[in-house]
Amino acid sequence: MHEQVSPAAALHGVVSVPGDKSISHRYAMLGAIAQGDSRIYNYSSGADCQSTLACLAGLGILHEFVEQDGRSVLIIHGKGSNGLQPPAAMLDAGNSGSTIRMLSGILARQPFTTRITGDDSLVKRPMRRIMTPLTSMGAQIEASNGQFPPLMIHGSHLRGIDYTLPVPSAQVKSCTLLAGLGAAGETIVREPVTTRDHTEIALRELGADIAIEPRLVRLKGGGQLAGKDLIVPGDISAAAFFIVAALIAPESDLIITNVGLNPTRTALLDILRGMGAAIKLLHIEQINGELIGNLEIKTSAMRGGVVEGPATASVIDEIPILAVLGAVSKEGLIVRNAAELRVKETDRIETIAAGLRRMGIRLETTQDGLEIPGSQKFRAAEIDSCGDHRIAMAFSIAALAADGPCTIRNAEVASVSFPEFYRTLREIAR
Ligand code: S3P
Repeated sequence: MHEQVSPAAALHGVVSVPGDKSISHRYAMLGAIAQGDSRIYNYSSGADCQSTLACLAGLGILHEFVEQDGRSVLIIHGKGSNGLQPPAAMLDAGNSGSTIRMLSGILARQPFTTRITGDDSLVKRPMRRIMTPLTSMGAQIEASNGQFPPLMIHGSHLRGIDYTLPVPSAQVKSCTLLAGLGAAGETIVREPVTTRDHTEIALRELGADIAIEPRLVRLKGGGQLAGKDLIVPGDISAAAFFIVAALIAPESDLIITNVGLNPTRTALLDILRGMGAAIKLLHIEQINGELIGNLEIKTSAMRGGVVEGPATASVIDEIPILAVLGAVSKEGLIVRNAAELRVKETDRIETIAAGLRRMGIRLETTQDGLEIPGSQKFRAAEIDSCGDHRIAMAFSIAALAADGPCTIRNAEVASVSFPEFYRTLREIAR
Protein backbone atom coordinates (compact mmCIF):
# COMPACT_ATOMS: atom_id res chain seq x y z
CA MET A 1 0.00 0.00 0.00
CA HIS A 2 1.24 3.48 -0.85
CA GLU A 3 0.27 6.73 0.87
CA GLN A 4 0.22 10.14 -0.76
CA VAL A 5 1.18 12.89 1.65
CA SER A 6 0.66 16.53 0.62
CA PRO A 7 2.43 19.59 2.03
CA ALA A 8 0.79 21.12 5.13
CA ALA A 9 1.04 24.61 6.59
CA ALA A 10 0.04 23.60 10.10
CA LEU A 11 -0.79 20.82 12.54
CA HIS A 12 -3.75 21.70 14.70
CA GLY A 13 -5.90 19.94 17.25
CA VAL A 14 -5.90 17.59 20.18
CA VAL A 15 -4.77 14.02 19.48
CA SER A 16 -3.73 10.86 21.24
CA VAL A 17 -1.16 8.26 20.24
CA PRO A 18 -1.24 4.47 20.81
CA GLY A 19 -0.22 2.96 24.11
CA ASP A 20 3.54 2.78 24.57
CA LYS A 21 4.96 -0.20 22.68
CA SER A 22 7.75 -0.92 25.16
CA ILE A 23 5.46 -0.78 28.19
CA SER A 24 2.72 -2.82 26.48
CA HIS A 25 5.12 -5.73 25.80
CA ARG A 26 6.27 -5.70 29.41
CA TYR A 27 2.78 -5.57 30.93
CA ALA A 28 1.63 -8.47 28.74
CA MET A 29 4.67 -10.65 29.50
CA LEU A 30 4.71 -9.92 33.21
CA GLY A 31 0.92 -10.31 33.38
CA ALA A 32 1.32 -13.77 31.85
CA ILE A 33 3.70 -14.99 34.56
CA ALA A 34 1.86 -13.18 37.38
CA GLN A 35 -0.78 -14.94 39.44
CA GLY A 36 -4.33 -13.94 38.41
CA ASP A 37 -5.81 -11.50 35.91
CA SER A 38 -4.25 -8.21 34.80
CA ARG A 39 -6.51 -5.65 33.12
CA ILE A 40 -4.36 -3.57 30.78
CA TYR A 41 -5.79 -0.25 29.61
CA ASN A 42 -4.57 1.43 26.42
CA TYR A 43 -2.51 -1.57 25.28
CA SER A 44 -0.60 -0.70 22.07
CA SER A 45 -2.61 -1.30 18.90
CA GLY A 46 0.64 -1.92 17.00
CA ALA A 47 1.35 -5.25 15.31
CA ASP A 48 4.48 -5.77 17.45
CA CYS A 49 2.44 -5.94 20.63
CA GLN A 50 -0.06 -8.29 18.97
CA SER A 51 2.95 -10.54 18.21
CA THR A 52 3.69 -10.66 21.93
CA LEU A 53 0.10 -11.69 22.65
CA ALA A 54 0.27 -14.37 19.95
CA CYS A 55 3.50 -15.80 21.41
CA LEU A 56 1.96 -15.83 24.89
CA ALA A 57 -1.13 -17.58 23.50
CA GLY A 58 1.22 -20.21 22.03
CA LEU A 59 2.48 -20.73 25.58
CA GLY A 60 -1.04 -21.30 26.88
CA ILE A 61 -1.74 -17.81 28.23
CA LEU A 62 -5.24 -16.72 27.33
CA HIS A 63 -6.19 -13.10 26.80
CA GLU A 64 -9.28 -11.22 25.69
CA PHE A 65 -10.25 -7.68 24.76
CA VAL A 66 -13.40 -6.38 26.47
CA GLU A 67 -15.24 -3.06 26.11
CA GLN A 68 -15.30 -0.81 29.17
CA ASP A 69 -16.72 2.73 28.98
CA GLY A 70 -16.23 2.72 25.21
CA ARG A 71 -12.58 1.68 25.52
CA SER A 72 -11.03 -1.65 24.67
CA VAL A 73 -9.30 -3.27 27.66
CA LEU A 74 -6.95 -6.23 27.45
CA ILE A 75 -7.32 -8.92 30.09
CA ILE A 76 -4.38 -11.30 30.51
CA HIS A 77 -5.18 -14.43 32.45
CA GLY A 78 -1.87 -14.90 34.26
CA LYS A 79 -0.92 -18.39 35.38
CA GLY A 80 1.89 -17.64 37.81
CA SER A 81 5.61 -18.29 37.61
CA ASN A 82 5.26 -21.94 36.58
CA GLY A 83 2.14 -21.69 34.45
CA LEU A 84 3.44 -21.58 30.87
CA GLN A 85 2.82 -24.63 28.68
CA PRO A 86 5.12 -26.10 26.01
CA PRO A 87 4.14 -24.58 22.66
CA ALA A 88 2.80 -26.92 19.98
CA ALA A 89 4.52 -24.95 17.20
CA MET A 90 7.30 -22.46 16.57
CA LEU A 91 6.45 -19.04 18.11
CA ASP A 92 6.42 -16.08 15.72
CA ALA A 93 7.61 -12.70 17.04
CA GLY A 94 6.87 -11.04 13.67
CA ASN A 95 8.87 -7.81 13.31
CA SER A 96 9.37 -7.39 17.03
CA GLY A 97 12.87 -7.40 18.52
CA SER A 98 11.45 -6.63 21.96
CA THR A 99 9.21 -9.72 21.82
CA ILE A 100 11.91 -12.21 20.89
CA ARG A 101 14.62 -10.73 23.11
CA MET A 102 12.56 -10.18 26.25
CA LEU A 103 10.46 -13.34 25.98
CA SER A 104 13.68 -15.38 25.62
CA GLY A 105 14.49 -14.43 29.22
CA ILE A 106 11.26 -16.05 30.37
CA LEU A 107 11.62 -19.05 28.05
CA ALA A 108 15.17 -19.79 29.22
CA ARG A 109 13.87 -20.95 32.60
CA GLN A 110 10.92 -23.10 31.50
CA PRO A 111 10.96 -26.89 31.85
CA PHE A 112 10.57 -27.29 28.08
CA THR A 113 12.09 -26.34 24.74
CA THR A 114 10.72 -23.44 22.67
CA ARG A 115 11.47 -22.45 19.12
CA ILE A 116 10.90 -18.81 18.25
CA THR A 117 11.43 -16.85 15.03
CA GLY A 118 10.24 -13.74 13.22
CA ASP A 119 9.87 -12.02 9.86
CA ASP A 120 12.55 -11.36 7.20
CA SER A 121 13.87 -8.36 9.14
CA LEU A 122 13.91 -10.02 12.56
CA VAL A 123 15.83 -13.08 11.35
CA LYS A 124 18.70 -10.74 10.45
CA ARG A 125 18.90 -9.08 13.88
CA PRO A 126 21.63 -10.04 16.38
CA MET A 127 20.67 -12.32 19.25
CA ARG A 128 24.09 -13.05 20.70
CA ARG A 129 23.60 -10.07 22.97
CA ILE A 130 20.88 -11.99 24.86
CA MET A 131 22.46 -15.42 24.43
CA THR A 132 25.58 -14.31 26.33
CA PRO A 133 23.92 -13.43 29.66
CA LEU A 134 21.35 -16.23 29.37
CA THR A 135 23.94 -18.94 28.75
CA SER A 136 26.07 -17.69 31.63
CA MET A 137 22.95 -18.12 33.81
CA GLY A 138 22.79 -21.75 32.67
CA ALA A 139 20.47 -21.57 29.64
CA GLN A 140 21.06 -23.53 26.43
CA ILE A 141 20.20 -21.68 23.24
CA GLU A 142 20.79 -22.59 19.62
CA ALA A 143 20.62 -19.91 16.94
CA SER A 144 20.97 -19.79 13.18
CA ASN A 145 24.67 -19.21 12.40
CA GLY A 146 25.17 -18.95 16.14
CA GLN A 147 23.45 -15.60 16.39
CA PHE A 148 20.22 -15.13 14.43
CA PRO A 149 16.60 -16.33 14.82
CA PRO A 150 15.12 -18.88 14.74
CA LEU A 151 16.20 -19.57 18.32
CA MET A 152 15.81 -22.96 19.96
CA ILE A 153 15.69 -22.34 23.70
CA HIS A 154 16.13 -25.37 25.93
CA GLY A 155 14.76 -24.29 29.30
CA SER A 156 16.98 -24.98 32.31
CA HIS A 157 17.40 -24.15 35.98
CA LEU A 158 19.09 -20.77 36.00
CA ARG A 159 21.30 -19.05 38.52
CA GLY A 160 21.44 -15.31 39.07
CA ILE A 161 24.36 -13.33 37.61
CA ASP A 162 26.06 -10.00 37.94
CA TYR A 163 26.06 -8.73 34.36
CA THR A 164 27.36 -5.52 32.82
CA LEU A 165 25.70 -4.66 29.51
CA PRO A 166 28.29 -4.36 26.72
CA VAL A 167 25.86 -2.34 24.54
CA PRO A 168 23.22 0.04 25.86
CA SER A 169 20.09 -2.05 25.39
CA ALA A 170 16.91 -2.09 27.45
CA GLN A 171 15.91 -5.28 25.68
CA VAL A 172 19.02 -7.09 26.89
CA LYS A 173 18.65 -5.64 30.40
CA SER A 174 15.01 -6.75 30.46
CA CYS A 175 15.77 -10.21 29.10
CA THR A 176 18.37 -10.73 31.84
CA LEU A 177 15.99 -9.49 34.54
CA LEU A 178 13.13 -11.68 33.31
CA ALA A 179 15.47 -14.68 33.43
CA GLY A 180 16.69 -13.54 36.84
CA LEU A 181 13.14 -13.49 38.17
CA GLY A 182 13.03 -17.28 37.83
CA ALA A 183 16.69 -17.91 38.72
CA ALA A 184 18.25 -19.01 41.99
CA GLY A 185 19.73 -16.12 43.97
CA GLU A 186 20.14 -12.50 43.01
CA THR A 187 20.58 -11.04 39.52
CA ILE A 188 22.37 -7.74 39.13
CA VAL A 189 22.38 -5.83 35.84
CA ARG A 190 24.73 -2.88 35.43
CA GLU A 191 24.48 -0.50 32.50
CA PRO A 192 27.18 1.95 31.48
CA VAL A 193 24.51 4.17 29.92
CA THR A 194 20.99 4.55 31.28
CA THR A 195 18.33 2.89 29.11
CA ARG A 196 14.56 2.81 29.49
CA ASP A 197 13.59 1.37 32.86
CA HIS A 198 10.02 0.20 32.22
CA THR A 199 10.81 -3.43 33.10
CA GLU A 200 12.21 -2.49 36.50
CA ILE A 201 9.21 -0.26 37.25
CA ALA A 202 6.70 -2.89 36.12
CA LEU A 203 8.45 -5.63 38.12
CA ARG A 204 8.20 -3.42 41.23
CA GLU A 205 4.52 -2.68 40.49
CA LEU A 206 3.69 -6.38 40.29
CA GLY A 207 5.47 -7.19 43.56
CA ALA A 208 9.01 -8.33 42.66
CA ASP A 209 11.80 -7.89 45.20
CA ILE A 210 13.81 -5.34 43.21
CA ALA A 211 16.12 -2.43 43.98
CA ILE A 212 16.50 0.22 41.28
CA GLU A 213 19.63 2.38 41.50
CA PRO A 214 21.24 4.63 38.90
CA ARG A 215 22.58 2.30 36.17
CA LEU A 216 22.21 -0.75 38.42
CA VAL A 217 19.30 -3.10 39.18
CA ARG A 218 19.20 -5.89 41.77
CA LEU A 219 16.47 -8.50 41.55
CA LYS A 220 15.83 -11.47 43.88
CA GLY A 221 14.93 -14.65 42.03
CA GLY A 222 12.07 -16.96 42.92
CA GLY A 223 9.47 -14.31 43.64
CA GLN A 224 5.82 -14.57 42.63
CA LEU A 225 4.20 -11.63 40.83
CA ALA A 226 0.56 -10.68 41.34
CA GLY A 227 -1.65 -9.55 38.44
CA LYS A 228 -3.18 -6.05 38.66
CA ASP A 229 -4.84 -3.25 36.71
CA LEU A 230 -2.31 -1.35 34.60
CA ILE A 231 -2.64 1.74 32.43
CA VAL A 232 -0.26 2.11 29.47
CA PRO A 233 0.77 5.73 28.75
CA GLY A 234 0.76 7.01 25.17
CA ASP A 235 3.93 6.23 23.22
CA ILE A 236 6.34 9.18 23.19
CA SER A 237 8.24 7.54 20.30
CA ALA A 238 5.00 7.62 18.26
CA ALA A 239 4.23 11.16 19.45
CA ALA A 240 7.71 12.19 18.26
CA PHE A 241 6.54 12.25 14.62
CA PHE A 242 3.74 14.74 15.34
CA ILE A 243 5.92 16.75 17.72
CA VAL A 244 8.50 17.36 14.99
CA ALA A 245 5.80 17.93 12.37
CA ALA A 246 4.19 20.61 14.55
CA LEU A 247 7.55 22.27 15.24
CA ILE A 248 8.41 22.65 11.54
CA ALA A 249 4.99 23.36 9.96
CA PRO A 250 4.68 27.17 9.91
CA GLU A 251 1.46 27.73 11.91
CA SER A 252 1.03 24.81 14.29
CA ASP A 253 -0.57 24.49 17.69
CA LEU A 254 -0.98 20.86 18.70
CA ILE A 255 -1.84 19.05 21.92
CA ILE A 256 -0.98 15.36 22.35
CA THR A 257 -2.72 13.83 25.35
CA ASN A 258 -1.61 11.21 27.90
CA VAL A 259 1.94 10.77 26.66
CA GLY A 260 4.41 8.69 28.69
CA LEU A 261 7.00 11.02 30.25
CA ASN A 262 9.28 8.53 31.97
CA PRO A 263 12.61 10.42 32.31
CA THR A 264 14.46 7.60 30.51
CA ARG A 265 12.34 8.41 27.42
CA THR A 266 12.10 12.21 27.45
CA ALA A 267 15.62 13.05 26.24
CA LEU A 268 13.88 13.82 22.95
CA LEU A 269 12.05 16.73 24.57
CA ASP A 270 15.26 18.04 26.18
CA ILE A 271 17.11 17.85 22.86
CA LEU A 272 14.30 19.58 20.97
CA ARG A 273 14.03 22.33 23.59
CA GLY A 274 17.80 22.79 23.40
CA MET A 275 17.31 23.41 19.67
CA GLY A 276 14.63 26.03 20.30
CA ALA A 277 11.36 24.05 20.53
CA ALA A 278 8.32 25.48 22.29
CA ILE A 279 6.96 22.39 24.06
CA LYS A 280 4.93 22.60 27.27
CA LEU A 281 4.14 19.71 29.61
CA LEU A 282 0.67 19.87 31.15
CA HIS A 283 -1.24 17.82 33.76
CA ILE A 284 1.58 15.47 34.73
CA GLU A 285 0.63 12.54 36.96
CA GLN A 286 2.14 9.21 37.97
CA ILE A 287 0.33 5.98 37.12
CA ASN A 288 1.77 2.52 37.87
CA GLY A 289 5.12 4.18 38.53
CA GLU A 290 5.19 5.86 35.08
CA LEU A 291 4.79 9.61 34.46
CA ILE A 292 2.04 10.66 32.05
CA GLY A 293 1.10 14.13 30.79
CA ASN A 294 -0.13 16.23 27.89
CA LEU A 295 2.23 17.95 25.46
CA GLU A 296 1.52 21.29 23.84
CA ILE A 297 3.68 22.00 20.79
CA LYS A 298 3.88 25.25 18.81
CA THR A 299 5.78 26.08 15.62
CA SER A 300 9.34 26.99 16.54
CA ALA A 301 12.49 28.26 14.83
CA MET A 302 14.70 25.17 15.21
CA ARG A 303 18.44 25.66 15.40
CA GLY A 304 19.63 22.03 15.08
CA GLY A 305 22.55 20.61 17.05
CA VAL A 306 24.57 17.54 17.98
CA VAL A 307 23.22 14.28 19.43
CA GLU A 308 26.02 12.19 20.91
CA GLY A 309 27.19 10.19 23.91
CA PRO A 310 24.59 8.80 26.35
CA ALA A 311 21.88 11.01 24.82
CA THR A 312 22.04 9.00 21.60
CA ALA A 313 20.93 5.79 23.36
CA SER A 314 18.02 7.69 24.94
CA VAL A 315 16.65 8.83 21.57
CA ILE A 316 17.70 5.87 19.44
CA ASP A 317 14.14 5.28 18.15
CA GLU A 318 13.70 8.99 17.41
CA ILE A 319 16.80 9.44 15.21
CA PRO A 320 14.84 8.98 11.93
CA ILE A 321 12.50 11.86 12.75
CA LEU A 322 15.30 13.96 14.28
CA ALA A 323 17.20 13.53 10.99
CA VAL A 324 14.20 14.95 9.11
CA LEU A 325 14.13 17.89 11.48
CA GLY A 326 17.90 18.35 11.12
CA ALA A 327 17.71 18.95 7.37
CA VAL A 328 15.30 21.89 7.73
CA SER A 329 16.80 23.24 10.97
CA LYS A 330 19.01 26.32 10.76
CA GLU A 331 22.35 24.67 11.54
CA GLY A 332 21.68 21.01 10.77
CA LEU A 333 22.12 17.87 12.83
CA ILE A 334 25.10 15.71 13.71
CA VAL A 335 24.41 12.27 15.20
CA ARG A 336 27.27 10.31 16.78
CA ASN A 337 27.59 7.05 18.76
CA ALA A 338 24.58 5.57 16.99
CA ALA A 339 26.05 2.29 15.67
CA GLU A 340 22.96 0.52 17.11
CA LEU A 341 20.95 2.14 14.29
CA ARG A 342 22.60 -0.33 11.92
CA VAL A 343 20.88 -3.30 13.63
CA LYS A 344 17.35 -1.95 14.00
CA GLU A 345 14.40 -3.02 11.79
CA THR A 346 16.58 -1.79 8.92
CA ASP A 347 20.09 -0.35 8.86
CA ARG A 348 18.60 3.03 9.73
CA ILE A 349 21.77 5.00 8.96
CA GLU A 350 21.41 3.81 5.35
CA THR A 351 17.60 3.99 5.11
CA ILE A 352 17.52 7.52 6.58
CA ALA A 353 20.29 8.62 4.21
CA ALA A 354 18.62 7.03 1.16
CA GLY A 355 15.27 8.70 1.90
CA LEU A 356 16.80 12.11 2.58
CA ARG A 357 18.86 11.95 -0.62
CA ARG A 358 15.77 11.11 -2.66
CA MET A 359 14.22 14.28 -1.28
CA GLY A 360 17.23 16.32 -2.44
CA ILE A 361 18.96 16.59 0.95
CA ARG A 362 22.77 16.61 1.15
CA LEU A 363 24.31 14.61 3.99
CA GLU A 364 27.20 12.36 5.01
CA THR A 365 26.96 9.05 6.79
CA THR A 366 29.59 7.72 9.17
CA GLN A 367 30.01 4.26 10.67
CA ASP A 368 28.01 5.33 13.71
CA GLY A 369 26.07 8.39 12.68
CA LEU A 370 24.95 11.09 10.28
CA GLU A 371 25.99 14.64 9.41
CA ILE A 372 23.14 16.63 7.90
CA PRO A 373 23.71 20.27 6.96
CA GLY A 374 20.82 22.58 7.87
CA SER A 375 18.62 25.10 6.03
CA GLN A 376 17.80 22.63 3.23
CA LYS A 377 14.45 22.08 1.50
CA PHE A 378 12.65 18.79 0.82
CA ARG A 379 11.95 18.06 -2.83
CA ALA A 380 8.79 16.02 -3.54
CA ALA A 381 9.74 12.38 -4.13
CA GLU A 382 8.69 8.76 -3.87
CA ILE A 383 10.21 7.17 -0.77
CA ASP A 384 10.23 3.47 0.15
CA SER A 385 9.71 2.54 3.81
CA CYS A 386 12.05 -0.45 3.24
CA GLY A 387 9.66 -2.31 5.56
CA ASP A 388 10.59 -0.10 8.53
CA HIS A 389 7.75 1.58 10.42
CA ARG A 390 9.79 4.51 11.71
CA ILE A 391 11.20 5.21 8.23
CA ALA A 392 7.66 5.28 6.77
CA MET A 393 6.46 7.73 9.42
CA ALA A 394 9.57 9.95 9.45
CA PHE A 395 9.40 10.49 5.67
CA SER A 396 5.66 11.13 5.82
CA ILE A 397 6.49 14.05 8.10
CA ALA A 398 9.23 15.21 5.72
CA ALA A 399 6.58 15.11 2.98
CA LEU A 400 4.49 17.67 4.89
CA ALA A 401 7.37 20.13 4.39
CA ALA A 402 8.11 19.20 0.73
CA ASP A 403 7.51 21.32 -2.37
CA GLY A 404 4.74 18.99 -3.62
CA PRO A 405 2.90 15.75 -2.83
CA CYS A 406 5.09 12.73 -1.98
CA THR A 407 4.39 9.01 -2.19
CA ILE A 408 5.43 6.76 0.66
CA ARG A 409 5.72 3.24 -0.70
CA ASN A 410 4.89 0.30 1.57
CA ALA A 411 3.48 2.73 4.09
CA GLU A 412 1.29 0.05 5.72
CA VAL A 413 4.33 -0.95 7.79
CA ALA A 414 3.54 2.03 10.07
CA SER A 415 1.04 -0.34 11.69
CA VAL A 416 3.93 -2.15 13.39
CA SER A 417 3.78 0.54 16.06
CA PHE A 418 1.09 3.04 14.99
CA PRO A 419 -1.82 1.67 12.87
CA GLU A 420 -3.75 4.95 13.22
CA PHE A 421 -0.81 7.11 12.03
CA TYR A 422 -2.14 8.18 8.59
CA ARG A 423 -5.72 8.66 9.81
CA THR A 424 -4.49 10.85 12.67
CA LEU A 425 -2.14 12.78 10.37
CA ARG A 426 -5.04 13.57 8.00
CA GLU A 427 -7.10 14.83 10.95
CA ILE A 428 -4.49 17.30 12.18
CA ALA A 429 -2.61 18.44 9.04
CA ARG A 430 -4.03 21.55 7.34
C1 S3P B 1 13.20 -1.21 23.37
C2 S3P B 1 14.54 -0.94 23.47
C3 S3P B 1 15.31 -0.37 22.37
C4 S3P B 1 14.41 0.27 21.33
C5 S3P B 1 13.28 -0.62 20.94
C6 S3P B 1 12.43 -0.94 22.15
C7 S3P B 1 12.53 -1.81 24.53
O1 S3P B 1 16.03 -1.41 21.73
O2 S3P B 1 15.15 0.63 20.20
O3 S3P B 1 12.47 0.01 19.98
O4 S3P B 1 11.28 -1.91 24.52
O5 S3P B 1 13.22 -2.20 25.48
P1 S3P B 1 17.46 -1.92 22.27
O6 S3P B 1 17.27 -2.57 23.57
O7 S3P B 1 17.93 -2.88 21.21
O8 S3P B 1 18.31 -0.69 22.34
